[in-house]
Amino acid sequence: MKNQLFYGDNLENLQKFVENESVDLCYIDPPFNSKRNYNQIYNNVGTEDKAQAQAFIDTWTWNIMANEAFLEITNNKNGFYTPQTVILIEGLQKLLGNSPLMAYLVSMAQRISEIYRVLKPTGSFYLHCDPTASHYLKLILDSVFCSRGGVFQNEIAWCYGSGGASKEHFSKKHDVVLFYTKNKIHTFNVNEVREKYSSPHKSMTPKVIGNKSYVKMNPLGRIPFDWWQIPILTNSAKERLGYPTQKPEALLEKIIKVSSNEGDVVLDAYCGCGTTVAVAERLKRSWIGIDITYQSISLIIKRLEDSFGEDFTKDIVDKESKQIIKPANLKLSGVPQDFAAAVALANKEDDRVRKEFEKWFVLSFSDNRAMINEKKGGDDGIDGLAFILDFDEKNQQDLKKIIFSVKSGKTLSTNVIRDLVGTMEREKAVIGYLLTLYPMPNLVKDSGRYGIYQSKMFGHSYPKIEVISVDDFFAGKRLALPTNNSIEVLKKAKIKTKNITGKLDL
Ligand SMILES: C[S@@+](CC[C@H](N)C(=O)[O-])C[C@H]1O[C@@H](n2cnc3c(N)ncnc32)[C@H](O)[C@@H]1O
Repeated sequence: MKNQLFYGDNLENLQKFVENESVDLCYIDPPFNSKRNYNQIYNNVGTEDKAQAQAFIDTWTWNIMANEAFLEITNNKNGFYTPQTVILIEGLQKLLGNSPLMAYLVSMAQRISEIYRVLKPTGSFYLHCDPTASHYLKLILDSVFCSRGGVFQNEIAWCYGSGGASKEHFSKKHDVVLFYTKNKIHTFNVNEVREKYSSPHKSMTPKVIGNKSYVKMNPLGRIPFDWWQIPILTNSAKERLGYPTQKPEALLEKIIKVSSNEGDVVLDAYCGCGTTVAVAERLKRSWIGIDITYQSISLIIKRLEDSFGEDFTKDIVDKESKQIIKPANLKLSGVPQDFAAAVALANKEDDRVRKEFEKWFVLSFSDNRAMINEKKGGDDGIDGLAFILDFDEKNQQDLKKIIFSVKSGKTLSTNVIRDLVGTMEREKAVIGYLLTLYPMPNLVKDSGRYGIYQSKMFGHSYPKIEVISVDDFFAGKRLALPTNNSIEVLKKAKIKTKNITGKLDL
């Protein structure tokens, strides 16, 4: 099977495109905003710590979507949900009401049930969460898995040392990974993950009296405990790509090695910056990744290209015959491929994908070299930023700013260009791109009067303002500037090639 990367909501993509019993291993790490005051999340009341509680509410709100999910589960028209899941969700709703926490739990119940469907009978599921919601998730997992022969295997504590501390309670230094299998018989390659024996606890050191040892030792090493000490990725970690919730490759390496074999299919339905898919690829597994934000898709494409070569994600086409000589190593789905799809993305009425059209256009037009303006609320007229290296007046190297502004209106007046020029002056930017959904010949004509930017370093001249429509983009127009690599959002992933044994060089 070819690797697949889906841009869009995981529920929809799992339902439409992933067949029953086709996946060997699934790992998910859904967003939760869990570093919150627990009582706020549970009670959804009070004034204390409002800002933090708000961040949770921003992510999970009881809205039409949550209500529909609740009704879908409790009505259970097609008998897709187990009776236990239906009763559990009804009961939790009585306890938690129509709260953000309940919105999170119905969303997870839908997706966990869908993941159960796609898992092979020998398949394994790892759900990454933390103690804020792990107890609720375990109830859901039990209702989906254990009610029909599935097995709760482990609650794995991923322990780490870095980060802050509080004087009110013990430092919270672990995440929870809940490990379930669809059946008693499942893949568990324990010899792939045996560890050298080095316990920090005296009580775990094997005591040898005479020829008897209190802890049975295997000359290969020990079967790992259910607590794993793996350092969290610090900002300076080599692996770090600048994605806030990026997980260490070592964590995924252990899971993938123990619960799948070469050639197996690994699924990550919340794949973020692609840790699971990158490790799966390196370990010679097939994979399916899904993410709802284009920034993630863009980062994953770049991560795969940096790790496995430029042509990993692209078809190699013979220039003369136009035939594909070497197909890309992945199938990308859900990314707009024509004007109609771009219009659909721009008009999507889904709060979770606010500004996705803008992000897709900026990142695709810049070949993933621009940065997205993350500012919430008003964006100051800036949707994306990139930098070009040039000389300043004193002939010193200097980074010059480029601004991207995206507009999806059907008619736009030249005021839009004037606003962009104003923003450029304020931001001291040298070039501005106006990216429009519809063709805007009036603006293209007007943009000419703003002149050119002359690069001293490269000797080229570029229009100061350029108007690019979605049609231009699909006709092959791309950012043609030598933008500076060193300050791109994505730090180049270390070039890693698959070696014969599939061993990682971490
Ligand atoms: C915590 S991050 C995952 C990080 C990932 N484990 C890594 O190491 O990079 C969660 C991801 O889930 C994605 N996401 C949230 N809701 C989603 C949904 N309904 N469908 C698909 N992806 C979703 C977010 O865009 C985000 O990238």
